[in-house]
Order: sequence, then C-alpha cells, then structure tokens
Amino acid sequence: MNWTLTDLPIIQGPMAGGFTTAELISEVSECGGLGSIGAGYMSPEALRSLIRAVKARTQKPFSVNLFIPHPVQVETAQVEKMKEWLAPYYKELGMSEVPGLKFDPQLFEKQWDVVLQEKVPAFSFTFGHLNPQQMQALKSQGVYIMGTATTLAEALVLQEQGCDAVVAQGAEAGGHRGSFLGDTFQFIPTEELVRTLAGNLKIPVIAAGGIFNRQGLERVTAVGAAAVQIGTAFLVCDESGASCEYKQALLAATPQQSEMIKVFTGRWARGLTNRFTAEMKKHEEEIPAYPIQHWLTTPLRKRAQELGQTDFQSLWAGQGLGSLQPCSAREFMKKLATPL
Ligand SMILES: Cc1cc2nc3c(=O)[nH]c(=O)nc-3n(C[C@H](O)[C@H](O)[C@H](O)COP(=O)(O)O)c2cc1C
Repeated sequence: MNWTLTDLPIIQGPMAGGFTTAELISEVSECGGLGSIGAGYMSPEALRSLIRAVKARTQKPFSVNLFIPHPVQVETAQVEKMKEWLAPYYKELGMSEVPGLKFDPQLFEKQWDVVLQEKVPAFSFTFGHLNPQQMQALKSQGVYIMGTATTLAEALVLQEQGCDAVVAQGAEAGGHRGSFLGDTFQFIPTEELVRTLAGNLKIPVIAAGGIFNRQGLERVTAVGAAAVQIGTAFLVCDESGASCEYKQALLAATPQQSEMIKVFTGRWARGLTNRFTAEMKKHEEEIPAYPIQHWLTTPLRKRAQELGQTDFQSLWAGQGLGSLQPCSAREFMKKLATPL
C-alpha cells in the first residue's frame, strides 16, 4: 500500500522527552515530510501549546504521539529495594533522598482530550492499541491513525482495529520498544519485520529502526516499506531539543554502543550505555515494571541533564550511529529526498 499522507514518505519520529520542538516538527512538515510531537510525558497544557505552536508555523500535516497506558501495580518491597540501590546516585548528584512515586493516573485521559479538542491531522501511538471508541473518535475527525508494532501479530491487531498505517519498529530502533502482545519482547531486525508485515498487511508499513540516510530509506523501500520513520538522526539536527552533551554523545558513538536497556524505565529501550546502565545491569531481573522504574529514576535523570552529566541520563539511540552529521532539518530532509 502506498503512502499518501504527505508528499515525501518520511516521518520525523515522535520522541518523548522534549526533543520534538515546534521548530523541528514544522520544518520537517514544511519540507514535505511528517513532523511528529512526542507527547508521551507532556502535561496537557504543554501539549496544547505545542500543537498550537506547530499549527502557527505550518499548514501541512503533522502528528501527535501518545503512550497507551496500562494498569500500574506498585510492589512496595521491590520499590523500596530499588530506592536503596538508587540512593547513592541521587546523593552523588546532590539530592538528599530518592523522591517518592509522583504521577498523575489520569495523564493519558487529559492528553487524549487535548488531542481531540485541538483537532490534529494525524495521531500515532505505542505500547498498545486504542479501544474502539477512541478509534471512532479519531476517525470521526478524519485523523490519520498509526500504531506501533514489533511483530506480525501486533501489526494484525492494529490493522484489524482500523489503523491507517503501521509503524514496523525493528530491533535497531532507538527508544522504547512498543511491544504489547506476549510475555517476552521480540527484537526482529527492521528489514525482516518490514518484509513480513508488507507481505501480510493491506495497509502501509512504515519502517522504523536504524535508518539515517537515503541508502537506508531505499533499502527498506525495496522490501516493502511505504514510508520511513527516523528518530536518532533527527536528534542531532539543529532544531532538535536534545542537549549539547546528548548530541555530542550521539555523534561520537559507534553502533556497538547502542544496547537494549531496561534499568532506566523498566521497559526495554535502545540507547547508549553509560555508567548507570553498566552499574545497574546486575539488578536487571529486579527492576520494577514500567512506568514505576521510569518514575523512580526521572528526578535523577532530570538533575543529570541540568548538570550536563551524561552518566545518569537515558540517552536513547538507535543503531544508525557512526556517521551521523549535525545539520538543519531542511538539509537532512533534502538528503533523504534525493535519490542516489
Ligand atoms: C529519544 C527517543 C525517544 C523516542 N520516543 C518515542 C515516543 O515517544 N513514541 C514513539 O512512538 N516512538 C518513540 N521513539 C521511536 C522513534 O519515534 C523512531 O521510531 C525510532 O527512533 C526509529 O529508529 P532510529 O532511532 O534508529 O531512527 C523514540 C526514539 C528516540 C531515539
């Protein structure tokens, strides 16, 4: 199936954590691709104002991405043990104790209301699927809907639910795994996953993972991708909200330095290894489930970011490392759009 939403079959991947600025999103959309707001962690107010800022900069389509929530079960003993392991790191960064769990159980519902109220052109999601009422609400507004799959079984669920396209998240992709079926996570390489999905689905397949140049785009197109979704390579663009030290770490890294990591958030995610991942690896089996571990480490990671300290930041990154180059989003889009 062909890609028809935008002129170019290129999506700037949604990246929660403040990386997808209005400048980055609107520039990608203005260049004919699809800019995406990574809104998973955003307050409803911040999401509303970012949507409006993007709309003020471009009339072209863009998307909003949210995390599908799951019931949270806090196991107190496990959390207390984790707090003990984390305490020395908090102390090292000048914080007297590990803060208690702080979260808004209604966050998704509030974000969802904003998405519907602000009437966005496209919506994507990860970590699960929407329910029929939610799908209907988006469809009645004519929103283009994309779900994230890491296996064929997940992709078939998303197609059955009425998604317009499926993001095939390969093992090389930076950030959290979007897996939502089965007890174990699967790490299928991007090309293999795209080929399988394209051979079995009626809707467009968007390849995500390890794509960072025109060659990568052509490689996945040859095995059936209708479009590509790129994350890591957009992080080093001038307009991205990534900090200088994060950008530098990405530019200096080799593909081997990107690993599957669970210790920051309790959910497998691909990122750069650092002191925290190396030292906490021994506790991998006892990490509280996502999002509990995410909440437990968030203040530490925020503080590390304020201090410009990469040892304790989650530096999500795909495997397309080693030849990234800093440039404007416009230059990068031009390179992606130019046939070899
Ligand atoms: C820093 C970072 C944050 C991400 N956050 C999200 C997110 O909030 N939602 C989502 O669906 N995908 C997220 N992703 C995945 C990207 O949208 C994209 O699919 C992925 O980065 C593609 O692989 P690549 O990094 O090898 O280009 C994130 C990726 C990175 C690197």
